[in-house]
Amino acid sequence: MPENYLQAAIEIASEAGQILREEFARPAKISYKGDEVDLVTQADKRSETAIVARITKSFPDHAIAAEEGGGHESAATSGYRWHVDPLDGTTNFAHGYPCFCVSLALAQHDSLLAAVVYNPISEELFAAARGQGATLNGNKIRASKIASLSTSLLCTGFPTHERTASPNLRYYGDFTMRSHGVRRDGSAALDLASVAVGRFEGFWEFGLKPWDTAAGVLLVEEAGGKVTDFSGQPYRVGGPVILATNGLIHDEMRSVAEKLATRPPLELQRTE
Ligand code: IPD
Ligand code: CA
Ligand code: CA
Repeated sequence: MPENYLQAAIEIASEAGQILREEFARPAKISYKGDEVDLVTQADKRSETAIVARITKSFPDHAIAAEEGGGHESAATSGYRWHVDPLDGTTNFAHGYPCFCVSLALAQHDSLLAAVVYNPISEELFAAARGQGATLNGNKIRASKIASLSTSLLCTGFPTHERTASPNLRYYGDFTMRSHGVRRDGSAALDLASVAVGRFEGFWEFGLKPWDTAAGVLLVEEAGGKVTDFSGQPYRVGGPVILATNGLIHDEMRSVAEKLATRPPLELQRTE
């Protein structure tokens, strides 16, 4: 892969991160995409506009799939596609909780080539290029060496759209009882970066979109971890469920998940 793709992604994510920092310093301008939990802010839109403009200028023959709809298909058939989440963790952002990031990944014909996940508040920049390892602020990172689920710290997330349809409650409860705990940090891209750097041993979630996971998947793989669906098939970005681990607890998590799939769902509902 030409070196300049990763370098360009780092520069673009840093510029978008600067926008998020500025917006975070003032009251959030919130609107709603669907119901009252599906938020979007001025920061999401400003960040996406800047990212799309920079990618389009540098790589006019690349397609862009961006969450807020600012992307485009390319006129040429280069096979390159950027997956752009201009602000992953919008709900955290809108509440002043400093756990959010910019997530950018470049794929060619579905193969992930370069990835950046940048938290502009902690100033942690995670980067990876296919076959060249993963880094945090320029230093090589590896997934953790913990080899049992019972001594692992895990993470998951719950969707903001169609919340009642999520099957995740029983997985959340069961994995909580089998591990040191399950965090719910609210940014799938940072959750995956945390697996890559060894803070979490495993992460799973249902219903994520390509822009939520593309960068984090390459980070985990390049840090020596493993990413599949619950049946052990390679994870395809935008697939219905993702399981990303340090590799050592992968089979144990998968076998728990397979048992849980046969149990009746717990309903995610509020009392009236
Ligand atoms: C959300 C976050 C969250 C996950 C949701 C995503 P957004 O992305 O990644 O952790 O649980 O499913 O939609 O909306 O903040 O970009
Ligand atoms: Ca997201
Ligand atoms: Ca987003």
